[in-house]
Amino acid sequence: MNAIERARGLLSGVRRLVVLSGAGLSAESGMATFRGAGGLWEGRRVEEVATPEGFQRDPALVWEWYSQRRGQALACRPHPGHEALVAWERRPEAHLVHVTQNVDGLLQRAGAERVLELHGSLFRVKCSAGCPGEREDLRVPFPHPQPCPRCGDLLRPAVVWFHEMLPAGILEEAAREIGSAEVLLVVGTSGVVQPAASLADIALGAAIPVLEVNPEETPLSSLADVFLKGPAGKVLPSLLDS
Ligand code: OAD
Repeated sequence: MNAIERARGLLSGVRRLVVLSGAGLSAESGMATFRGAGGLWEGRRVEEVATPEGFQRDPALVWEWYSQRRGQALACRPHPGHEALVAWERRPEAHLVHVTQNVDGLLQRAGAERVLELHGSLFRVKCSAGCPGEREDLRVPFPHPQPCPRCGDLLRPAVVWFHEMLPAGILEEAAREIGSAEVLLVVGTSGVVQPAASLADIALGAAIPVLEVNPEETPLSSLADVFLKGPAGKVLPSLLDS
């Protein structure tokens, strides 16, 4: 039996599926990943654009970078891998939860309804001084500077930066969903950024079958029940289409 047949066997009859995704899920839509050649972090000092300190130092530069990423995301379209996930989510009696590190909104644009965004969204803003609440903002370019309506401090992208905590309660919710899943499907993540990377350990520790889709091996590949080597846009339709 080949890998795809084994994986389809593990999915057969399953209702509760959690999909843990990373930048690789959006790659075939045209979004750059973070690591490796051509990645967003290559040749860029992460501290400049993805830390609270970087924003304090030069908020205009940070907004310029996020405006570009917004524009890029809006120019992209979901691909057959997103569509296969959403078709599975829409099956009667299916309970599929997406736990994603992606901030590009592509899953939602494909029609996904249950999406836990571990790292926030490019399309929301929040107060940089910590006033509670976030609101949707789709403007490209973002007309920086914009004051927080409550305190007048600057609005910033509602994404998680380095040195920051994840949005309150989201990790617990993701852990709960994974703990009660019948299968965990991990797609397009290098698995090196915590705490997202450790979420797969919950499934491994509870003997919940783990399937991984990635064209490259990752630290998870040898631990997963089935490693499906290949791009999401090809592998997901053949895994999930009935
Ligand atoms: P990475 O850039 O670290 O990893 C992307 C993964 O996608 C790699 O393992 C690639 O092999 C894989 N990949 C590439 N093309 C693919 C395809 N067509 N189909 C499937 N997989 C493919 O991205 P993440 O793991 O998402 O955090 O990175 C995690 C976090 O690191 C990001 O959310 C971001 C970054 O710093 C923050 O900004 C907080």
